[in-house]
Amino acid sequence: MTTTNFFLFITILLHSCHTLTGAEDFVGPIDRSLLQLDKEEKVSHFKFYWHDTVSGKNPSSVQVIPPTNKVNTTTFFGLVNMLDNPLTLGPALSSKLVGRAQGFYASTGQIEVDLLMAMNFVFVDEKYNGSSITILGRNPIFSKTRELAVIGGTGVFRFARGYAHLKTYSVDLKTLDAIVEYNVYVIHY
Ligand SMILES: *[C@@H]1O[C@H](CO)[C@@H](O)[C@H](O)[C@H]1NC(C)=O
Ligand SMILES: *[C@@H]1O[C@H](CO)[C@@H](O)[C@H](O)[C@H]1NC(C)=O
Repeated sequence: MTTTNFFLFITILLHSCHTLTGAEDFVGPIDRSLLQLDKEEKVSHFKFYWHDTVSGKNPSSVQVIPPTNKVNTTTFFGLVNMLDNPLTLGPALSSKLVGRAQGFYASTGQIEVDLLMAMNFVFVDEKYNGSSITILGRNPIFSKTRELAVIGGTGVFRFARGYAHLKTYSVDLKTLDAIVEYNVYVIHY
């Protein structure tokens, strides 16, 4: 081994020791203010309409898995719809776009129609542009009002928590296109 090689060997050895001991540092405390957690929490109320258009040439919500035929139910058990639904200020699809709902719903009830809703709401309006909240919950669609959990968020919604209150605005019984009013209450910084 030449002297140069020897130093190279020592350097590599020291370097690998460093990365090994460095593993101890993968978690550690951090000052709250660095994450803006020293600011007071706000509660925001958002109201908008969610358009589940399943019919026509440009559906925003598409069945990707049909209901299973392994159980005899009338609840569409097993169905999965993938969606990229517009969120608008008013109930008309043509009213101002405030964001999009991207995710899916899956029919998980064998006795009544219950949907598992898993969606990211990404907003496009002003200071909320690009920020998102994540919604997860159980939606018994024939109940008058339903609640879904807001389990987190990004951008201005980092560390968010809250819930969404759902009320069906209209359902076209022929096409099954639905418009649902969402009132979302979110605690965030
Ligand atoms: C499914 O259930 C309905 C109502 O309970 C019954 O009338 C029908 O015969 C059942 N079908 C099958 C394939 O078991
Ligand atoms: C929102 O952000 C996107 C991408 O950063 C940008 O193209 C768009 O113009 C922004 N919209 C508004 C209303 O600020």
